Amino acid sequence: MERFHDPVLADEIVSFLVRKPGVYVDGTLGGGGHSLAFLHALHEAGYSEQSLLIGIDQDDAALDEAERTLRGNESRSVLVKGNFQDIGEIVTGVCGKKGLEPKVAGVLLDLGVSSFQIDTAERGFSYLRDGPLDMRMDSNAPLHAGDIVNGYEEKELARLFYRYGEEPRSRSIANAIVAWREKNGSVCGTKELADIIRGNAYGGEKVIKTLSRVFQALRIEVNGELDVLRRALCEGIDFLDDYSRMAVISYHSLEDRIVKTVFAEKARSDWGPKGVAMREPIVWGTVALVTRKPLMASEQETATNPRARSAKLRIIEKIPRRDQHE
Ligand SMILES: C[S@@+](CC[C@H](N)C(=O)[O-])C[C@H]1O[C@@H](n2cnc3c(N)ncnc32)[C@H](O)[C@@H]1O
Repeated sequence: MERFHDPVLADEIVSFLVRKPGVYVDGTLGGGGHSLAFLHALHEAGYSEQSLLIGIDQDDAALDEAERTLRGNESRSVLVKGNFQDIGEIVTGVCGKKGLEPKVAGVLLDLGVSSFQIDTAERGFSYLRDGPLDMRMDSNAPLHAGDIVNGYEEKELARLFYRYGEEPRSRSIANAIVAWREKNGSVCGTKELADIIRGNAYGGEKVIKTLSRVFQALRIEVNGELDVLRRALCEGIDFLDDYSRMAVISYHSLEDRIVKTVFAEKARSDWGPKGVAMREPIVWGTVALVTRKPLMASEQETATNPRARSAKLRIIEKIPRRDQHE
């Protein structure tokens, strides 16, 4: 069987995050690769006894695979089906049951979909495989890609492909989809959709980019990916203990922009209106940027794991509330 998913930048993540015993949250469990790396690092550092790993994923197949990967670590880990936007509620619930304070020593979000999700034709994530227009990470979620492709008006489709895919040919692709619907009733699967896109993209290598961008836009809309990210980052930071860190890996510019913006907002202190001399800020920043520029995978890693090529890792550290200290 093909590998479920190779964790990206795993060595860097554990060396930046695992610095003390405590509760660690892997908000995007996937196949459990990063979680296993956390557990090994905690063991190596002698922190196992006082630590707990909480793994969250909204995909049942991911939870099953992670359970297999983490077998033997049941006493040190709790796996939860849920959305990482509810990280605070999940941490409070698990810690409450374990009699632990809901304070987190490290959080990881490795955004997007896993190789397994993309490679499974029936999930409908890939333009390379023929499958249903599904694209849901959570199989209980109400919206399918087919509802969008066959239900949205032309203008809405064009806006979606432009906004979430940054696709320059968004209008002509939306127009071609609607023309297809009028002629044939509906678009029936990923192959049919990919053929419509191919017929309306620029030629050469640009076709692949257009296919990726349109499929990305649909996936983001189906799973509300950008809407949940901001909330997860803010809640995750709220639940971090002082001097604890959050790491986020993003794979495209829309995600990375949100991560960069939220981290910068949280790091900034508010000194009030310009020209007014203040002895201290009105509001202190709550985090420090550990990485000013995103870290990228090494050539060695991208040679064996091509998915790592587009990965950008950003890390922040929670700082104690200064208004309480002074
Ligand atoms: C890139 S994969 C993570 C791979 C994982 N780090 C590993 O080592 O195998 C992303 C995973 O996060 C899950 N996911 C994405 N968005 C989520 C969300 N909002 N809430 C919970 N899980 C999410 C996906 O279902 C997928 O399994």
